[in-house]
Amino acid sequence: MKNSAEDILQQFKNKINLSDYLSNFISLEKRGNSFVGKCPFHNEKTPSFSVSDEKGLFYCFGCGVGGNVFTFLKKYKNISFQEALKTIADYLGIELKIVSSKEIGKITKLYNLLANINKIFKSNLENNSFSRNYLKKRGIDQSSVNKFDIGLCNQDLDNFKKNLSLKGFSENDLKEVGLIIESKEDKRNFLRFQNRITFPIYNMLGNIVGFGGRTIVNSKIKYINSPESILFKKSDHIYGLWQNKESIKNKNNLFLVEGYLDVISLYSKKVDNSVATLGTSLSQTQIDKIWSYTNNPIMCYDSDSAGLRAMNQLSLKILKFLKPGKTMKFMNLPDGDDPDSFIQKNNKEEFYNYSKQSLNLSDLIWSNILDEPDNITPEYSALIESRIKKITSSINNSNLCQEYYKYLISKRNDYFWNKRRIISKKTLKKSDNQESFDKFKNINEYIVLSFLIFEKELSIEFIEQIDGIIFTNSTLNKNKSDFVSFYFSNSKDMGEIKEKLNESELKKFSYIKNTHFKHLDYENKKLFLRDIISNLRLPMLLNEREELKKEILLSKESKKSKENIVKYENLSREINKIKSK
Ligand code: UTP
Ligand code: MN
Repeated sequence: MKNSAEDILQQFKNKINLSDYLSNFISLEKRGNSFVGKCPFHNEKTPSFSVSDEKGLFYCFGCGVGGNVFTFLKKYKNISFQEALKTIADYLGIELKIVSSKEIGKITKLYNLLANINKIFKSNLENNSFSRNYLKKRGIDQSSVNKFDIGLCNQDLDNFKKNLSLKGFSENDLKEVGLIIESKEDKRNFLRFQNRITFPIYNMLGNIVGFGGRTIVNSKIKYINSPESILFKKSDHIYGLWQNKESIKNKNNLFLVEGYLDVISLYSKKVDNSVATLGTSLSQTQIDKIWSYTNNPIMCYDSDSAGLRAMNQLSLKILKFLKPGKTMKFMNLPDGDDPDSFIQKNNKEEFYNYSKQSLNLSDLIWSNILDEPDNITPEYSALIESRIKKITSSINNSNLCQEYYKYLISKRNDYFWNKRRIISKKTLKKSDNQESFDKFKNINEYIVLSFLIFEKELSIEFIEQIDGIIFTNSTLNKNKSDFVSFYFSNSKDMGEIKEKLNESELKKFSYIKNTHFKHLDYENKKLFLRDIISNLRLPMLLNEREELKKEILLSKESKKSKENIVKYENLSREINKIKSK
């Protein structure tokens, strides 16, 4: 893959401290959060040249020179921007997109043009109270207008052209960046963003590469973007990343939303770590860029059918790009909300709290695999498995492919086992001629005993745990102790256990076996028994926790109390796990 200037700067920042790199040329000393040294660009006795690794920038308080690593190299080695780029690309061992110097000249000129246009748009907005009110009504404050350089396009085309031609830009330049559109029919020219609020789109070098525009006159087309140009490839850029990058780094987290106004509206309400794609689905370049800031971005799309569809599509698409440690979470806003409407009704804390319920990628994928919640046939289970195979085969990274396969298969197993158990319980309820065991609050105890009677191999696996449980029903508890001691005696003849029961008891246990686990395969039986045992352990665990709590509160020795706190936390975790089933 060839890399643009922006990619190179990004990779440099990710991998190398600016201070380390500049130490190849000048000597620097650490002071607080930054590094200082004598400025190489003017003569000085006391150091006033300062480098911030966090920002990736240097600045000299003596002569006012400052910038990033490219700026430094250009000045220090007296080379062109392109040569500086090449130096850094070589240093990082990555390939540089070859651009001719003619093209560079043109790109620089067009960057300049867009910057100038943005100035005009900004001053238009300052002078237009209707649009300023529109923004205010939408909850967007002045600091957000400044931060995102929001503007307005509402001018006379000829004036606009004249204004820019004074600065050396031609009509063709304006067409090149798509600001002027020529109508095919009558060759008339008009402004692409006329009567729209404008949102400049920045690349990660801080240059404007295009605009988005929202109508303020209810045009049928609500949003338009700049067309693709030599500066602007929609699928390379992420709206808001330039403006919000510092908070994104500090919070080590970001929200991926759908719209420009979502990003800005969130910012106005102090959620300053969101970004948006530009009305397109997420590309590999974009997700890689996002992952270079955070491993766990949260996708927060509109909670309407289009947003949900986009979310599900993205969850599938992103599998291909996954790398160890890099994933995405999915936030599901209340029905009908988008991030903008949510934050206007709620506050920052509520938004961040809500985001804590975001779904993991793996769980979203699972919930989409399962489409017939009442189907528990083996045929359906096999269909699910083939879906899992197909979906996981799209994961390029082989480790992750295996991990996802294992995870989803275990989800399937758990799911079918649970479902079948619930359904067999329902069947039990329906049968009139049979004693209804559901009336027994001891059904779990009966089930464990049935396992001990009919499932020797499995019971052996769990015998220690079963031994540790005290049944609430004393007769059943007596049965259990008898059976367990049979297991501990290493007797091979299961008949001996059955002899301990009379005919009607045996019938009862046999009935439980038939209705609860006979139809399960070995793995699912095992999961079932494990779950039952956990449930039976719950009252004991709660008790134990109560005791521990008392002990912690009374304890004087801090070391012992610390150990108990750890025990207490482990117990709580186990309890919650059981309760959540
Ligand atoms: P939405 O239609 O969800 O916009 O489009 P929104 O953010 O809720 O807009 P408001 O609140 O009414 O102002 C989300 C994004 O999809 C793209 C834009 O990037 C927009 O920000 N889009 C939408 C278009 O490109 N064209 C359109 O006509 C509409
Ligand atoms: Mn909206």
